[in-house]
Amino acid sequence: MEKKKFTKIGNVEIGNGIFLAPMEDVCDLPFRVICKRLGADIVYSEFIASEGIIRDSRTSKRKMKVAEEERPVAIQIFGGSIDAMVESAKIVEDAGADILDINFGCWVKKVVQRDAGAAFLKKPDEMAELTRRVQEAVQIPVTVKTRLGWDPESIVITEVAKKIEQAGAKALAIHCRTRDMGMTGLADWSWIPKVKDITNIPIILNGDVVEPEDVKRAFDTSGCDALMIGRGCIGYPFIFHRAKVMMEEGYDPGEPDIYTRVDVCLDHLRMSLDFKDRNAIIEFRKHYSGYLKGFFGASEVRRALMSSETYEEIEDNLRQYVKYLEDNDRLEPVSKTRKAPTLSCNSEKYVRRQTREVV
Ligand SMILES: Cc1cc2nc3c(=O)[nH]c(=O)nc-3n(C[C@H](O)[C@H](O)[C@H](O)COP(=O)(O)O)c2cc1C
Repeated sequence: MEKKKFTKIGNVEIGNGIFLAPMEDVCDLPFRVICKRLGADIVYSEFIASEGIIRDSRTSKRKMKVAEEERPVAIQIFGGSIDAMVESAKIVEDAGADILDINFGCWVKKVVQRDAGAAFLKKPDEMAELTRRVQEAVQIPVTVKTRLGWDPESIVITEVAKKIEQAGAKALAIHCRTRDMGMTGLADWSWIPKVKDITNIPIILNGDVVEPEDVKRAFDTSGCDALMIGRGCIGYPFIFHRAKVMMEEGYDPGEPDIYTRVDVCLDHLRMSLDFKDRNAIIEFRKHYSGYLKGFFGASEVRRALMSSETYEEIEDNLRQYVKYLEDNDRLEPVSKTRKAPTLSCNSEKYVRRQTREVV
């Protein structure tokens, strides 16, 4: 029997179900707004340490800021102490989050050693208890993001899914890798239908959704209620627009032209300048390569942008660059405008594997 598709997480509409995945140092407020404008349905913040929230640290406060335009927005927290998580969840709710997401998937040592993130994959009962306590403490929907298990010998996702559902979680996002894989290997989407079969909350697929066509394939083959895009949108938020048009109108509008790229890049920069008190110009430098990738002479203009110190100088450089492309009849990209992250998720071998395993 076809499994029910959910349209809401608690009271929050899922829309097309194309979400921005939480990513540290990437998903700040300006980037989330950009992704929302381009079609992301729900945007997730980077993770925030519960201790930092309780200490009222300046960084945590900035990370918790929410803009009306980006709603609905999920704020993600992590930590090993149930009491601290409960207290910080209330603060996040007061800060205006629409969804409170709990990170039970972070694999990095400094987090796991503090008994947080993926460390909970070794203690599903505590994971459920923490989820229950947090959901009881706030009115907004609480969601959970985790992995399949600690390693291939201890895949616990079906047990975890049932337990966190019983604990009151309103959705579960599954990064379809184990903790020991880190970010290597292939995400195994075949667990999604198995989890859908035994639960009655929205299931969000995550891992290796990189190209717009992966979005449709993920929905069609796994039956997920929604999915999250992580690395595929770094430097390329346009994937949300392409995926949205594909889902709603059935065709891929293709690569954005250089005019769109420059306009979005400048919008993003202006917002970053408004949002961050200092270092915004320097921190923004990591984004230029993504926005300009594939266009003739991009590396030279990038070099100029890297040493530009004011908004005016940056805009001027970018406008002159577009004029240069126009004058030299070079408006079409000369190479692929972006690179899939580390593994080639769009390779034939990968697609064969995914479609074979997911029934
Ligand atoms: C730079 C970076 C930072 C990340 N930070 C977080 C985070 O703060 N919280 C979280 O749950 N996952 C985090 N992740 C994991 C992603 O949300 C996602 O699960 C993972 O990248 C797999 O999805 P993808 O294949 O679409 O990239 C991060 C990933 C990257 C690449």
